[in-house]
Amino acid sequence: MGKSPLKAGKLALKTNILDSLRDAVILVNNNREVIGFNRAAQEIVEIEHKGKDLALAFRDQNLLNAVDQALKGGTPVVQETSFPYPVGRIYTVDITSLSSEDENKKSGVMLTMHDISSIRANERMRADFVANVSHELRSPLTTLMGFIDTMQSAVNLDPERHEAFLNIMAQESKRMALLLEDLLSLSLIEAHEHERPEGMVAVSEVLLPVVERLKNRAEKKSMEIVVECPNKDIQVRGEKNQLIQVVENLIDNAIKYGDPETRIDVSVTCAEAVADIKGPALAIAVKNRGAGIDEEDIPRLTERFYRVDKVRSQAVGGTGLGLAIVKHILNRHRGKLDITSVLGEESVFTAYVSQ
Ligand SMILES: Nc1ncnc2c1ncn2[C@@H]1O[C@H](COP(=O)(O)OP(=O)(O)O)[C@@H](O)[C@H]1O
Ligand SMILES: [Mg+2]
Repeated sequence: MGKSPLKAGKLALKTNILDSLRDAVILVNNNREVIGFNRAAQEIVEIEHKGKDLALAFRDQNLLNAVDQALKGGTPVVQETSFPYPVGRIYTVDITSLSSEDENKKSGVMLTMHDISSIRANERMRADFVANVSHELRSPLTTLMGFIDTMQSAVNLDPERHEAFLNIMAQESKRMALLLEDLLSLSLIEAHEHERPEGMVAVSEVLLPVVERLKNRAEKKSMEIVVECPNKDIQVRGEKNQLIQVVENLIDNAIKYGDPETRIDVSVTCAEAVADIKGPALAIAVKNRGAGIDEEDIPRLTERFYRVDKVRSQAVGGTGLGLAIVKHILNRHRGKLDITSVLGEESVFTAYVSQ
């Protein structure tokens, strides 16, 4: 406990055990003075010395009141407390009474602090996600309902407007369908993210069908997709359909966000050493020319629903989930997505797949 000299070996053993705990433990006597603490506690609260009032370590009045209650013989309680600095952390604090040899006399309380910051962050993320999904679904739905209303109440709607309305309705329902499809994909991928794929796939089986499928869309913008792959027989450990989804999303984005009349380069290379990846990896890089991406946006692109320009993304049929899907598929393949960009020139999205 703390830095006090330890006399008995038994006590030293207990201290080692307490110090090895990830949870912080603080012991307080009947006068609310700190009489012991482990290493984890020292990292969280400012306890320099024993014998000082616990209030010097905690500013949280509710917590101090709960400790006072426990010292008066109250039942054990669990409190939540937070430390905003230097980085916001949230803890649950179990406050339990310590009894002395004399069974009826309380000798103090023990505070056990458990870090729940990541649980809270996950809860917030989930709540934000649900709010985002509802918002994304609501806007096409509102448009649809508006047009249904208009068409129902319109007398003698001329055929041109009738067709125009139906076209908008078809477009909005397609948007909803795409969103639901991406959401389902994402949840399926996440559910199996920890199971690394077993099979092997040839790169050509992944690249060629996608390029074939997207060629027409590129041509409509007078763009050309150029594939450079020294050896199309290269095999990689992975699930074919998911790797196709990765390449499809990256090339689709390159067509959507690249400038018309430019080239999209898809290149495949084998990398011996890549940061954060164990062993060799296959790198599939998709490069497009255009406005590029601001440095501060780059780390956020793989967040669900994050779009640099939402209006533009929706206009080209984006859901804001494509790169989140790519990231999770690459996680499953023990790989990663790397994004670099030169403003006003180009963007390069490189998918690394562990081999
Ligand atoms: N090749 C690219 N060039 C520029 N910006 C891109 C590119 N790819 C993706 N982005 C940006 O990243 C955002 C998220 O991409 P994505 O998750 O695929 O969603 P979506 O394409 O549906 O909007 C896009 O809205 C866009 O702002
Ligand atoms: Mg996309």
